[in-house]
Amino acid sequence: MDRNLALEFVRITEAAALACSHHIGRGDEKSADKAAVDAMRKAFDSVRIDGTVVIGEGERDEAPMLYIGEKVGRRSEEAPAIDIALDPLEGTTICAKGGVGAISVIAVAEKGGFLHAPDTYMDKIACGPAGVGIIDLDLSPTENVHRVAEALRKPVEDMMVVILDRPRHENLIQEVRKTGARIQLIGDGDVSASVAAAWPDSGIDLLIGIGGAPEGVISAAAMRCLGGDFQGRLKFRNEAEKERAQRMGILDLNKKYSMNELASGSVMFCATGITDGPLLKGIKLYPNRKATTQSIVMRSKTGTSRTIHSYHNLGIKPV
Ligand code: FBP
Repeated sequence: MDRNLALEFVRITEAAALACSHHIGRGDEKSADKAAVDAMRKAFDSVRIDGTVVIGEGERDEAPMLYIGEKVGRRSEEAPAIDIALDPLEGTTICAKGGVGAISVIAVAEKGGFLHAPDTYMDKIACGPAGVGIIDLDLSPTENVHRVAEALRKPVEDMMVVILDRPRHENLIQEVRKTGARIQLIGDGDVSASVAAAWPDSGIDLLIGIGGAPEGVISAAAMRCLGGDFQGRLKFRNEAEKERAQRMGILDLNKKYSMNELASGSVMFCATGITDGPLLKGIKLYPNRKATTQSIVMRSKTGTSRTIHSYHNLGIKPV
């Protein structure tokens, strides 16, 4: 994959993020999501790729754009064939409430690189480079917390564990509190939180808990680039979800997926902040239709991560 493509993808997440800027805190999740999807879809048209959305806004019959299987990009003979996992607005509720950590995100892999994860839940664990090969979804949360603390050479009491604030995590939260570790409960947005676990200076050491499966695949791509670790296991709410997964080719419904099984080969990840979060600053709007965005872009091939601050003149180039 051409390395310059990574910068092209930043333009796409920037466009989606900027499209959300006037939807922040307005309480309208649908409009915010639609603005991000429309802008991202349009921005893809200017990039020379033969892209296929494998993780997107849903099945063709439920999503008008960026649906699973949709072809995106300006195709030509030379255009690289790639698979795309995207979420134009990760943290729809966060954006609608003006909360912490909404982002626009795209992960890219060579053909066949991503697990075609159904839109169900996933049990996840994510950590930074120190915990590679140490975390294990089959171990108890207590054991995982202790192992990562030991690898980081810090007392358990200094650990910061991120967990989605959901009733389903009541026991998990209690167990992690018993270890003595500190917990950051987040309302939404476990892609940002997973990536933060491997991001230097984020102050976050570990993410544990159940979130969306598509978000799990996107997070695994980011962790590949950052040299962190991630594991996931699909969690189904009902028989219909299991049948759907089987139709998508998933035979072992109980499989524990390693980071490399979720996102293999050469991958890229890029994200732009919409609201301020643990990873990225949100969009700022200035007089005379000026705006700033902050994005990160990274590649597994080199392990390089770039933070990009962009100044936009929306008077000249409107979203
Ligand atoms: P959306 O952007 O699709 O609203 O997802 C937000 C999110 O918090 C994800 O980050 C997370 O993986 C998932 O929802 C958790 O699902 P649920 O809200 O059903 O617990």
